[in-house]
Amino acid sequence: MYAQMVKTGVDKLQSLDEMSARERAFQERIDADKRIEPKDWMPDSYRKTLIRQISQHAHSEIVGMLPEGNWITRAPTLKRKAILMAKVQDEGGHGLYLYSAAETLGITRDQMFEALHSGRAKYSSIFNYPALTWADIGTIGWLVDGAAIMNQVPLQRCSYGPYARAMVRVCKEESFHQRQGYDSLLALSRGTDEQKRMAQDALNRWWWPSLMMFGPPDGESVHSAQSMRWKIKLFSNDELRQRFIDLSVPQAEVLGLKIPDKDLKWNDERGHYDFGEIDWSELYEVVKGNGPCNRERLSERIRAWNEGSWVRDAALAHAEKNIHRASANN
Ligand SMILES: [Fe+2]
Ligand SMILES: [Fe+2]
Repeated sequence: MYAQMVKTGVDKLQSLDEMSARERAFQERIDADKRIEPKDWMPDSYRKTLIRQISQHAHSEIVGMLPEGNWITRAPTLKRKAILMAKVQDEGGHGLYLYSAAETLGITRDQMFEALHSGRAKYSSIFNYPALTWADIGTIGWLVDGAAIMNQVPLQRCSYGPYARAMVRVCKEESFHQRQGYDSLLALSRGTDEQKRMAQDALNRWWWPSLMMFGPPDGESVHSAQSMRWKIKLFSNDELRQRFIDLSVPQAEVLGLKIPDKDLKWNDERGHYDFGEIDWSELYEVVKGNGPCNRERLSERIRAWNEGSWVRDAALAHAEKNIHRASANN
């Protein structure tokens, strides 16, 4: 979901002949499936694209903690509360691995936070939707974390070493997130009529925004070709979306829930589900800042940052004290 938001300023693909010797060697390494590491030479546009992609991904992890964190105190049982707390903490950890990976490209964490808090940096639009009921928490795990896995599993093989390695652990944790969400929805769908209705209502609201997480259709995804050549995007938006739909339909059947798409139908010839048209104007509005919760998420994030300043100050003071102690002992 992140790659397609990336703007690189690279408008057309160069042929190998048009590249400098350094650029050619770089591209040949990528073509041979070798990893690029922080100290290696890389084109400026590759560095910038990755900074944007990884920092957007990091921002999405920590903003994604907000809609769910809100439900920790309202989880229906102790077990569900413990699971949700673990999941939300995982997301904070994902943010940390990803900020660290982005820092290897020469940007500081403060610069990234400044971009997020000033509204310049984007995060995944899905987190601008509200989590209205407990069933939303299950649905987010099932669909939103499910879509994230679909996007992130291929990134374990992406060309940039620190990003690819961060994805290995992230993906393991994401699969726990997806399963806990599905398990929670399964409990609701086997519960009372009211619980079933709640689960169906959450699916109705989250289905289409989840499909939008894969980004605009391939024809409109401007920078995909360059990102695919650099192997920082390995499958197209439409391919991943189709794969997600094909996997989710039988899962919804097990839940006994109905996917809110009257055009959803198995197509024997294609070997895939056909599905209805996505209202892209909705995604563009949310990206522009006009989603249901854009303002709330950003102000909540800034409040959390400001309220945490004493922790950062204390950690810094402690680190400085240790340095002084160490030099006094030498
Ligand atoms: Fe995550
Ligand atoms: Fe997750």
